[in-house]
Order: sequence, then structure tokens, then C-alpha cells
Amino acid sequence: MPVRALDVVAGARPNFVKVAPVLRALAAASVPARLVHTGQHYDVSMSDVFFSQLAIPEPDVHLGVGSGPHGAQTARVLEAFERHLAGVEGGSGGVVVVGDVNSTMACALAAVKLGVPVAHVEAGLRSFDRTMPEEINRVVTDAVADLLLVSEPAGERNLRAEGVPPSRVRYVGNVMIDTLVHELEAARALPLPAEVRDGPYVYVTLHRPSNVDEPGRLAEMVAFLRRVAERAAVVFPLHPRTRARLEGSGLLGRLGEGGRVLLSDPFAYRESLRLISGARLVLTDSGGIQEETSYLGVPCLTLRPNTERPVTVEMGTNTVVGSDLLLAERLAGEALEGRSRRGQPIPGWDGRAAERVVDELRRAWLGAPGV
Ligand code: UD1
Repeated sequence: MPVRALDVVAGARPNFVKVAPVLRALAAASVPARLVHTGQHYDVSMSDVFFSQLAIPEPDVHLGVGSGPHGAQTARVLEAFERHLAGVEGGSGGVVVVGDVNSTMACALAAVKLGVPVAHVEAGLRSFDRTMPEEINRVVTDAVADLLLVSEPAGERNLRAEGVPPSRVRYVGNVMIDTLVHELEAARALPLPAEVRDGPYVYVTLHRPSNVDEPGRLAEMVAFLRRVAERAAVVFPLHPRTRARLEGSGLLGRLGEGGRVLLSDPFAYRESLRLISGARLVLTDSGGIQEETSYLGVPCLTLRPNTERPVTVEMGTNTVVGSDLLLAERLAGEALEGRSRRGQPIPGWDGRAAERVVDELRRAWLGAPGV
């Protein structure tokens, strides 16, 4: 009987970086797979450039769900993905979801309800903060998925504490680092923007609702970034949500005043990696960038009260500063003077995690012999 193709799901920007190596490893192992793009992110700068730069094949299926409130967006993915799975001739061989975005949870739910097995790549991460939509997505996805593929030690600990049987859990490492390893040389060959070529600079990304949706908090952030910019140039690519909030509150002009904060549209993957790898310091509320800076040995201050990626604090270069922007300013000063931890290698963050993902999928679903 021919092997039934797997469905690999990608919906939003961080997903694209994670599915790229998984699709490559599936192709190398001759495992048939379909790529399903939910369309949660749809702009050229949030989606298309990732496909072209990371050589991700054209999606076989595009669900075209777009933006919306959480319930509506999740519901649209659930409905459209269920319809897709139900229409696959002979049935799907299994669904692979990555990360923690709304599309991840919705596709996992649709699949298990149809009796299709689900593997979750980057399982077990927990911020223990249920005000974060991503935390709900993680908890729900792990509760229903059959195979939980873990990227860092905390993932195994959290799943064990939740009573998940060890037979469902495998430590495979971090597929996002696979993409970083694959792209680093090409990224480093890119020129830096002229404004930051001659001195240390700080790279900033912010998009979490907790930082950008509340006007008071956003104004504090802008004042903080202006103070940092007195010490070093700041590069700040704006996520669409962040740009909309800055424009809506009249703070965009204030941030750009004086020209020390270089504002831009979101960067493509390589441009972003180029800037992260050359930065003296990164300020972020992203999850993935905490991991990338840890791998690269670049100091990172996380502007959130918690992290679901504690290994980046324990072994990497990350410090979680919460909402204390005075602490953040002091630590930023130290980093700009070169006084920061370097970090150490993290198990399974080696550029080969996707190969281990595929080994596990073959064993679990395709009858390949175990080790
Ligand atoms: C989503 C993920 C988050 C991830 C982030 C990375 C969830 C719950 N959140 O957050 O985990 O870190 O992506 O980018 O899934 N928009 C555009 N163009 C786009 C996409 C979005 O203009 O291509 C605008 C929409 O108008 C929307 C806003 O950005 O209102 C937010 O998009 P959304 O997908 O709801 O969540 P993100 O904040 O991007």
C-alpha cells in the first residue's frame, strides 16, 4: 500500500522558519508531505519573503483565513482545515503542527476530531501565563497531540508534571536553530544598513499585545527606547500590529525623532538574522529571538514578565526583565559596555533537529524500525 502523505501546517511568521527544515528533511527521507498554509499571516513581508528566502515550496493548500479576533480566526482555521482533511483522498497520513500560534491549535483540534494523528514540534513549552494567547494554544495543542516533540529540557519537565505519558514525548532539539545554521553564512554576507555600520547597535522587536496594545505601556516603551538610543543606534522593524498602535497613538513620529531609532517594515529572515548576529544587544518580546540570540551568543533582554524558554536564561544569553524598564535600561548599559554572559551550547540545538523529527515521525506513523 502506498504511504499516505503527511500534512505539515504553517500559519504565521514564526511557523515558516520552523517548517522549512522539517519539509527539507521529509523530502530527503522521501516521505510524502503536503504543505498547508492557513493564511493567518498574509502580507508579503510577513509571509511571502519567508517562502522565497528559505526555499519553502509553494503551499499545496492555502486556507486563506486572514486576521481577526482570536475566536473568529481560530474558528476559520478549524473549519477550513477540517474541510481540507476530510477531502484528502485516502485520508491524511498524519498532521504536523509547529509552535504556538492560533493556526497550530486549530489544526491540531481539527485533526484529532477526525481521528488523524498529530505531532507537535516545539511541544511542552510553558510560560505559566494564561493571559498570553500562545500559552492557551500550547496547552491545548499538547493535550490533544499524539506525539510531542520537545525542543528544550523544560519541555520534558512540563509535560511530565502534567502527567503526559513519556511514551508520547521525544527530545528532538530546536528546528528553528536548523534554519539559523542553514542561513547564517548567507546572512552574514549581507551588508549592514549604513546607519549602524560604524558602531555598536541595538536590535529591537516588539509585537505582543501586553507591550503594544495599551497606550500607557507603549508610551513608556517609546521613552525607554529613546533613552537607549542616546547610547547606541537602535534598529526597530515594526510588526503590523506595532505600527498600527504607534500610528494610532501618535507615537510613531516621536520614536523616529532625531534619527537614532531606525524604523522599518518587518525584515525578511536573512536581513533580520544579519542584524541580530551583529548586534551588541537585542531587546525583544519574541519567543524565537530569545533562542536565536542564545545560539549566537548575543545578549538579549526579554521585555516580558516570563519566558516559556527557560533554557535561554539558564544556559543562553537571555535575561527576563519583565515590565521594569529602569532595570532594562541598566542592563542595556552593561551590555553596551560589553559586560554580559556569553552562554553555552544547548543540547539538540545543532542544526539537525528536523532530521530527528522525521526519524520520530517515521517510527511512529510509517512503521520504520525503532532504535
Ligand atoms: C501572531 C502569533 C504570535 C507570533 C506572531 C509573530 C497568535 C495568537 N499569535 O501574533 O504567537 O509571535 O504572530 O508575528 O497566533 N497583520 C497584518 N499582516 C499580516 C499579519 C497580521 O497586517 O500578514 C495584522 C493584522 O491586522 C492583525 C495584527 O497584525 O490585526 C496581528 O496579527 P495576528 O495574526 O492576529 O497576531 P500577531 O500579533 O501577528
